[in-house]
Amino acid sequence: MDGVTTTGARVAVVGTGSVGRALARGLAADHEVRFGSRTPDDPSLRGVLDDVGATAATPSEATAWADVVLLAVPGPVAASVAGDLAATVAGKPLIDCTNRFDGDEESVAEAVAAAAPAAHVAKAFNTIGANRFTDPTFPDGTATMFVCGDDAGVAAASDLAAGLGFDVVAVGGLETARHLEALAALWVALAGTYGRDVGFRLLGVGDGG
Ligand SMILES: NC(=O)c1ccc[n+]([C@@H]2O[C@H](COP(=O)([O-])OP(=O)(O)OC[C@H]3O[C@@H](n4cnc5c(N)ncnc54)[C@H](OP(=O)(O)O)[C@@H]3O)[C@@H](O)[C@H]2O)c1
Repeated sequence: MDGVTTTGARVAVVGTGSVGRALARGLAADHEVRFGSRTPDDPSLRGVLDDVGATAATPSEATAWADVVLLAVPGPVAASVAGDLAATVAGKPLIDCTNRFDGDEESVAEAVAAAAPAAHVAKAFNTIGANRFTDPTFPDGTATMFVCGDDAGVAAASDLAAGLGFDVVAVGGLETARHLEALAALWVALAGTYGRDVGFRLLGVGDGG
């Protein structure tokens, strides 16, 4: 996205699971990273914090501190977590990285946006395994990171994904998030067959890589 850089920004990663840890690990070199965790003082987090070079606080503290927020909690609770944080994500890019596979017609991202209406909600980081977030280049090309949503959210998500090495493709507004969530379901099926070291690449939109 033209002219937008998140370098040096304060990034809150809400959720300390596979996705949160991988994003924090990848982003900590160029950003200040703080996890938002239900148990920020849990001793089991210490090793991760030291390893990643991040800090931890409660989700509301971390998001109040942050310039950009990544939501990396289970899909079924994402909207409720976003609703609890609506005040502290207001006016900020809120990047929904989650999926749910229960056939709900509304995407998680749209539910997140409804729960946090003043945030700049984007969808990203949901169509490839967390194991490749910091290593998106395969022998046969670089994976595409599909991003959609509000302009400011898309700009922030695109800059973060490009910084991690992805080729970024913006696919439209948040109404297209349901297609990215469907693509994630396809990724899960493919990973079951071929293993987690697979990723999507869109051809014909850039200069290759
Ligand atoms: N794993 C992947 O490769 C991958 C890739 C792309 C997208 N996704 C999607 O990203 C989302 C997160 O995936 P994940 O693999 O990181 O999940 P996970 O390992 O289960 O971690 C989710 C984290 O969310 C936090 N959390 C907040 N509220 C919670 C609640 N009510 N119940 C449980 N955890 C809660 C927890 O951190 P605290 O305990 O510190 O609060 C937990 O560690 C999912 O929707 C998933 O489908 C996953």
